[in-house]
Amino acid sequence: MKKTLFTLLLCIHAFIFTVQAQEIAVIPKPAEMSVGEGEFSLKGKVVVCYPEVKDKGIKKVVDNFVEEIEATTGVKLKKSTPQKEKLENGVVTKYSRKADAHIVMCVDESMGDECYKLSVTPKRIDITAAKPAGFFYAFQTLKQLMPRNVMAGVPDAGVKEWKIPAVSIVDEPRFGWRGFMLDEGRHFYGKEEIKKIIDVMAAYKMNRFHWHLTEDQGWRIEIKKYPKLTEVGAWRDSKVCAWGDVKPDGIRYGGYYTRKDIKEVVEYAKERFVEIVPEVDIPGHSQAAVASYPEFLACDPENKHEVWLWQGVSGDVINVANPKAVQFAKDVIDELTEMFPFGYIHLGGDECPTGKWERNAECQALLKEIGSTNYRDLQINFYRQLKEHVAQKPACKQRKLIFWNEVLHGNTAPLGNDIAIMAWIGADNAAVDAAKRGMNTILSPQIPYYINRRQSKLETEPRSQGYGDETLERVYNYKPMNNVAAELQPKYMGVQANFWTEWVEEAEIVQYLMLPRLAAVAEAGWTPAEKRDYSSFLNRLQGEDEYYRLRGVNFCPHEFKGK
Ligand code: ACM
Repeated sequence: MKKTLFTLLLCIHAFIFTVQAQEIAVIPKPAEMSVGEGEFSLKGKVVVCYPEVKDKGIKKVVDNFVEEIEATTGVKLKKSTPQKEKLENGVVTKYSRKADAHIVMCVDESMGDECYKLSVTPKRIDITAAKPAGFFYAFQTLKQLMPRNVMAGVPDAGVKEWKIPAVSIVDEPRFGWRGFMLDEGRHFYGKEEIKKIIDVMAAYKMNRFHWHLTEDQGWRIEIKKYPKLTEVGAWRDSKVCAWGDVKPDGIRYGGYYTRKDIKEVVEYAKERFVEIVPEVDIPGHSQAAVASYPEFLACDPENKHEVWLWQGVSGDVINVANPKAVQFAKDVIDELTEMFPFGYIHLGGDECPTGKWERNAECQALLKEIGSTNYRDLQINFYRQLKEHVAQKPACKQRKLIFWNEVLHGNTAPLGNDIAIMAWIGADNAAVDAAKRGMNTILSPQIPYYINRRQSKLETEPRSQGYGDETLERVYNYKPMNNVAAELQPKYMGVQANFWTEWVEEAEIVQYLMLPRLAAVAEAGWTPAEKRDYSSFLNRLQGEDEYYRLRGVNFCPHEFKGK
């Protein structure tokens, strides 16, 4: 009896394992997917049939895809257009060209910008989308259906036949905002590392790179009107950010991005449908700026100010009552607008101590003038002027402003509600508060979406914040927009993982802590809530380690079985 039971259990286990093993390893899981019969083989004469559209963006995305496939597989593809093929009601049905297989693109303008349909059968692949982003995401899925060197963008001479399993997918994201933030104020990694992150984000269909470029410990972006921000503010006298027993090490440390660097990264991101959201965190977390221009940014210019060597929250904030400080912020916004041709600018707003304002006569007078007794309202008054400044710009230079959720601690009425709140502390409640005020909101809960925090309790883990509780499973199982009233839901733009770098000096450690947890956040942002399932995710994740290795990014190996 015992033996029979054991055999039965073994069979059940084998069955479950087989079913899991057959799962198509697409991350994030598509909204609708069914597996077909057989597979498409990329061999012989394969014709790529371009859609008949004026949209140069679509053509460019298809060209890039063809180029990548040729470079990574060594298979030459033939390009064609519908005019050369036989059309029936606008749909390519028969092919005048003799070919072994076809990859056919079709435009359906009724679809959403990021939606796509993908059908793979043994002799034909059909891709339908409305916009370049939809085609791009269809190609990301298609590349995930192939050996991992294809997504990694490197050739693999060892693959004998390039096969793609037959599937039918209709896909669209749950949220429009699927973000990742990197803090380069504390530690600076350089543009090649940023490109790797953008690649991995794009592989997982993430579309917002929030670049935290300024901190108490460093200002990392060239601003032409204020050269001392990078001559002084980008450098400090310690590589480590000191804390407790960890003292400043005296090593001269720093770096920043020039205009040319920014342009290069912006182009790279645009090609991958990642919008960059630059953040200058003002008026708090601004000691590096204050050290650069104490004469008009400091509340106490008579005292010494230096780029901070320590971790924590500096009290050395910008004097928001000084008109020159307000002009400074407007000028910085103007240059950010020139450098980043995207929709959003983040002005920070977190953890801004008011002590220096409380002791400053100009700030005391301004608080009276605006009729408040809450010093947080000085911060709101500062932002109000910046928002009005942006509102005066021509349409092509309009940007939406984003703030961390502490801004809700003041009277936000002067700011209006056409701003977005990034909810991190008490995130779920803060997001509801923002939505009730009519503001848009993005969920980036500190626990568990701060993926710089330790992901395991092992002693061998790299030094970072937390106690090892933010495991891959815990990150995956966070439920965004859970139990939110239906009328507030349209205010929820999406989700974002954040990475703070106080303890993380090297890019390899950023990657180790970030991966694979970023993939879990990507799935929360894309996949319908009812289709998310951790065991399925973990199963589909197996093999991603190969992609990471081939792309040259480090990762945490704990959840990869048998490695
Ligand atoms: C934050 O974590 N201070 C936004």
